[in-house]
Order: sequence, then C-alpha cells, then structure tokens
Amino acid sequence: MSQNTAATATRPRVFSGVQPSGLPHVGNWLGAFRNYVAMQDGYDAIYCIVDYHALTSTHDAERIRRNTTEMALGLLALGLDPEKAILFRQSDRPEHLELTWLLASVTPVTWVERTPSFKEKKRNQPEDVNFALLSYPVLQAADIAIYKARYVPVGKDQAAHLELAREIVRAWNARYGAVFPEPEAVFTDSPIVKGTDGANKMSKSLGNVVEIFGEEETIRRQVMSMVTDTERIRRTDPGRPQACNVCQLHRQFGTDHEAIWEGERSAATGCVDTKRLLAERMLTTFAEARERHRELSERPGYVEEILRAGAERLAPIARETLRECHERMGLGPR
Ligand code: AMP
Ligand code: TRP
Repeated sequence: MSQNTAATATRPRVFSGVQPSGLPHVGNWLGAFRNYVAMQDGYDAIYCIVDYHALTSTHDAERIRRNTTEMALGLLALGLDPEKAILFRQSDRPEHLELTWLLASVTPVTWVERTPSFKEKKRNQPEDVNFALLSYPVLQAADIAIYKARYVPVGKDQAAHLELAREIVRAWNARYGAVFPEPEAVFTDSPIVKGTDGANKMSKSLGNVVEIFGEEETIRRQVMSMVTDTERIRRTDPGRPQACNVCQLHRQFGTDHEAIWEGERSAATGCVDTKRLLAERMLTTFAEARERHRELSERPGYVEEILRAGAERLAPIARETLRECHERMGLGPR
C-alpha cells in the first residue's frame, strides 16, 4: 500500500471538478453542488475549477480567469467551507497534466473518439476540433486519479466520462499494479435538471438557466419564462405534473409538492401560480447564499487566497502519486 495520504487518510476521498463557466445555476446546485457541500462532512473532499479543461472550448484568457473566480465565489457562497474541503484551480497543480500523459499511454484512441461529449463538441465547434478536446476525458480521469479519489459527485451528464475514467484507471492498474481506486459517480435525486425550455439540460451555453445569484427580477423572469406541460393549453385544462418541469422542480424546493401537483391536476391552480410560487421558494432557499455572495464579493483577494492555499495543500499528494507512477512505469532512476 502506498504512503500517499490518499491511501492513509481515514476518511474516503471525494473529488469533483467544475468548468469555469461563471456563476453557478440551479442545475449545478441540484445536480452536483449540494452533494459537494454535503460530502465535505464525513469525507476528505477536494473540489477543482478545471481551467485546463476550459481551453478545449474557449481561448478567451480574460473570460477563463474571470469565470474561474466567479465559480469559486459561487461555490463558497453556496456553503463550500474551505475549513472542511479543499477548493483549488486545476492549473495551479500541473501534475494533473503529467498524469494525463501517463494515463494516455494506456488509453486506446477508440475509447476517446467514441466519447459522447467529443462527438457533441465536434458538432458544436466544428471550426475548433483541437487535440486537447480529444484528450478531455483522460485529463478528467487524471484529475480524480492523482488524488486516488473514490467518490465523484457529478450530474448525470458526466456518467460517460466517469465510466471512461474507471476504464482508464483499470487499464493502468492492469498493466502496472493496483495503484488507483476505481472512481464511482455519486448522483443526487435530481441528476438531470432541465432548463427553462423544459426540454434540454439546464446549461449556460444553451441560455436556458435559472440563476442563483442574479437580480431577484432576473430570477423571477427566468422562472416565469419556463415551459410547463405543453398539452395544458387552457387554464381549465388539467395539468400533468409528471410532464411539467416546474412541478418537478417543486419537489426540490418544499415538502408539499403533492399538494401543488393536486392543484395542477384538478386545475385549481394555473401554471402561472405554480411558477410564481417556485420563484419565491427559490429566492427563499438561496437567500443566505445570495447574502454570502454579496459579502464575499466585497473581499478582494479572498477567493485567490483560498484557491492558492488549496493547491498548496495538495502538492505533496500529487507529487507522491507521480513518484509512484514513475517507479512502476520505468521513468527516471530507481
Ligand atoms: P459544469 O458547469 O458543466 O462543469 O457542471 C458542474 C457540475 O454540475 C457537473 O457535475 C455537472 O454534471 C452538473 N450539472 C451541470 N448542469 C446540470 C444540470 N442541468 N442538471 C444536473 N447536473 C448538472
Ligand atoms: N467534465 C466535467 C464537467 O464538465 C468537469 C470535470 C473535470 C470533472 N474533471 C473532473 C468532474 C473530475 C468530475 C471529476 O462538468
């Protein structure tokens, strides 16, 4: 067994990464971030803003830097506690890139070529199908493996990447010995949150998000714009809560969704009432986080300090994992 803290820590290790896409939205929270916060108690939790990954789709330096800070600030406001969990920026630990290379050497090209996200990106950014994009999931596997993390809280859209990470780690272990645990995805009970269009995954790039930290008016407007049951045409038509994104979201913002659904089914309430209620409940739920966000925004340098300290604490773990890999892979002197 390795001397690595990853193996000697008594609490199981958790790792997750998030793209620097600016402030978090409701889908991030419900699908992943509430598990980040929950798992900082009872686990050895490490969370990362993956700015290297961002380079696969954007080359706007200012945007990456600004969005990294915003995402970190959002996570801290949502309750991520730097006393309990480590939060850091991926590019502050370049060992991730070296491990990517080591893992790439056991990863068949066919595995990465068939990754659904690669196919999707090839369609979405045909003018920029860069080599980093192809290696995206290998870097993701390295993010997790470098800390020998076991559990990975993510939304369902990451299931294929996690499966690939398991396969890559398994391939490496089969050749060089059992160094890395096979990581397991951890989902919430709302692993795929649909956006305001009621059809696609809530995502900033699709412009269908409900913000957490926006102006109250913005949040109300976003919720009021949500597509509901498309077969409920007239106010007097019975609603179908199973087919309505707003009704489904009520499950997550209160304990009385059954009563709300009954109101919809009997047409006692209309979609507008149900949306108005949802907006108010979201604002109540996130009131504390929004307040904390305002406070933290006024502390220049705070986020940078947290990210820097986080990366520093991880240095010995990352280096030790690489040392172990070098030894087993025949790199450097014995
Ligand atoms: P991203 O911003 O894509 O890096 O997402 C950060 C985390 O939020 C990842 O674990 C995603 O799987 C999760 N996530 C993002 N959008 C959604 C969504 N619409 N529903 C559920 N989870 C999501
Ligand atoms: N690909 C993930 C996303 O888009 C981000 C990510 C990078 C990640 N490295 C990771 C998630 C490691 C979990 C574990 O959301």
